[in-house]
Amino acid sequence: MKTVSTVSELKIQVRAWHQAGQSVAFVPTMGNLHDGHSSLVQEASKRADKVVVSIFINPMQFDNQEDLAIYPRTMEDDSNVLKAMNTDLLFLPTPDIMYPKGLDNTTFVEVPMLSGLFCGNSRPGHFRGVTTVVNKLLNLVEPDVAIFGEKDFQQLLLIRHMVADLFMNVEIVGAPTLREPSGLAMSSRNNYLSTEDREDKAPIIYQVLSETKAQIKAGDRDFANLELAAAKRIDEAGLNTDFFSIQNAANLSDAQSDDTDLVILVAAFLGKARLIDNLFFEV
Ligand code: PAF
Repeated sequence: MKTVSTVSELKIQVRAWHQAGQSVAFVPTMGNLHDGHSSLVQEASKRADKVVVSIFINPMQFDNQEDLAIYPRTMEDDSNVLKAMNTDLLFLPTPDIMYPKGLDNTTFVEVPMLSGLFCGNSRPGHFRGVTTVVNKLLNLVEPDVAIFGEKDFQQLLLIRHMVADLFMNVEIVGAPTLREPSGLAMSSRNNYLSTEDREDKAPIIYQVLSETKAQIKAGDRDFANLELAAAKRIDEAGLNTDFFSIQNAANLSDAQSDDTDLVILVAAFLGKARLIDNLFFEV
């Protein structure tokens, strides 16, 4: 695995691959890699000849500077995981490379329809940070395909909208959420949970998601009531529900009884962690 930090080293390598007729898949990350990330890298290697991974803890997507300060930095372990997976190139830009004029003076990208909803409402400015950095990274790497986890459903939808609206020349692929045996979605944030919370409390999120999906599939269309009952069960298990919402999967508007593609979005606080998950399906 080649590790580079400068834009020129990155571009020379990726252009050489493209000139040799080789396709490139890209997986952007913020490091602290777990099996969920490995599955994205695996998906990338199925989709292209060469795999580029970036690790950049993007300051622009943190609404809280404390969260940025304590975000786990595990570069040596991450690098070993990526080497073991035969990653071809690891790109490690610095904040100065990504934001040469500073965060307050940079051009930004925003998807206004979607960036203020759900996670964007709870974390103001978060999605502007995500779409801006993903746009910059895609412009630098120039991949044929880029892989994002379906666990961050709203993020994936925003990126798809950005790429379509700005006519960006890259295919965006969503990779399925990886789960622990309990059903808990894999996430770097699970590291903030105590063993007891992780094993006994957090799995309620996926249980309630799955049961609500089954109720909708069985014909229940009283979405407001389903949402209230689900949030109550999550709260009773010792979490604090931020939102539990049944939405149209294409545009995140409130689900209507004749919608055919739905997503259930959930975010809940447990200890220091804010856990998110979702299920999307056809009815
Ligand atoms: O999902 C993430 O890890 C980040 O939001 C991303 C896409 C790497 C942008 O910083």
